[in-house]
Amino acid sequence: MAKYIHFLMGLTLLALAPICLCHKTYGGYLYPQFYDRSCPRAQEIVHSIVAKAVAKETRMAASLLRLHFHDCFVKGCDASILLDSTGAITSEKRSNPNRNSARGFEVIDEIKSALEKECPQTVSCADIMALAARDSTVLAGGPSWVVPLGRRDSKGASLSGSNNNIPAPNNTFQTILTKFKLQGLDIVDLVALSGSHTIGNSRCVSFRQRLYNQSGNSQPDFTLDQSYAAQLRTRCPRSGGDQNLFVLDFVTPKKFDNSYFKNLLSFKGLLSSDQVLVTKNTVSLELVKKYAADNDLFFEQFAVSMIKMGNISPLTGSRGEIRKNCRKINA
Ligand code: HEM
Repeated sequence: MAKYIHFLMGLTLLALAPICLCHKTYGGYLYPQFYDRSCPRAQEIVHSIVAKAVAKETRMAASLLRLHFHDCFVKGCDASILLDSTGAITSEKRSNPNRNSARGFEVIDEIKSALEKECPQTVSCADIMALAARDSTVLAGGPSWVVPLGRRDSKGASLSGSNNNIPAPNNTFQTILTKFKLQGLDIVDLVALSGSHTIGNSRCVSFRQRLYNQSGNSQPDFTLDQSYAAQLRTRCPRSGGDQNLFVLDFVTPKKFDNSYFKNLLSFKGLLSSDQVLVTKNTVSLELVKKYAADNDLFFEQFAVSMIKMGNISPLTGSRGEIRKNCRKINA
């Protein structure tokens, strides 16, 4: 009898083994099958609402991809970016990188309310953003990947984290790399993930400095192609027009592809933070050249780096909560 019990215990351990492998393979405690039993239609619901939103407005794919990034760099991928201000919470939506810029919140709300109907208090807002970022990438023509799941939602936000951790477009190459390293990401992730700027828009205010006064001597940034700069000045004047929108990739602005990297090699990166990848560091320059030459290689690395970014300090187990409404913590 004792032998039989030992045998059964052995079998149980064997059965558990794949779960442990999951942990190792996917990092953290996240795994793709997390909602398979508790909310089997979760991924399908997220996909259908993202697809509808992107069909209505192409740019929404870019905005949802960026939202996941701005979430993950602040206290981990915990949906802290979605919280509105209340007595106790100062919203990250007010930070310099997010104010008048981060968007897509209504789409996340729509997904959340559909999921609350399907399986109440089961699917986290943080997982919704990770899935929406993947679906957005695919809808824009980019690579797909399997999203590890099981993140829970924070009970707080960090305005200072949002201001300090998310790189600014006029940061130096070294500062940007340091901000990535602080999140456990490396130079390969930095270059691949910057490839997100193959889609979406930037406001004039985010790159104006390059057009008129890059380093305080009233000179433009000479690492920006000067005829491209002249073109940009027509709609991004010295003052005014702060919110005017420009495509980040002027060649294929709505398509997720490697033309962003080709643009960098011809000094037509829109943001200073884009162009420094080729002008300030030889390792990142070589990576840009590789991705410019090989779209498949870019797609492969992008998927790997997105999974890595999605694994930044998730709340798992009994930490955090599953919010009922992504904009506020549960009562
Ligand atoms: C490397 C450091 C980065 C810097 C300095 C940076 C900065 C910016 C800035 C300034 C904008 C324009 C915002 C505006 O003017 O309203 C922007 C847009 C965007 N960023 Fe980044 N970004 C970086 C990395 C990333 C990463 C890692 C991702 C995604 C994984 C990403 C995805 C996007 C997307 C998709 C847009 C367009 C959003 C839209 O059209 O709504 N960025 N970024």
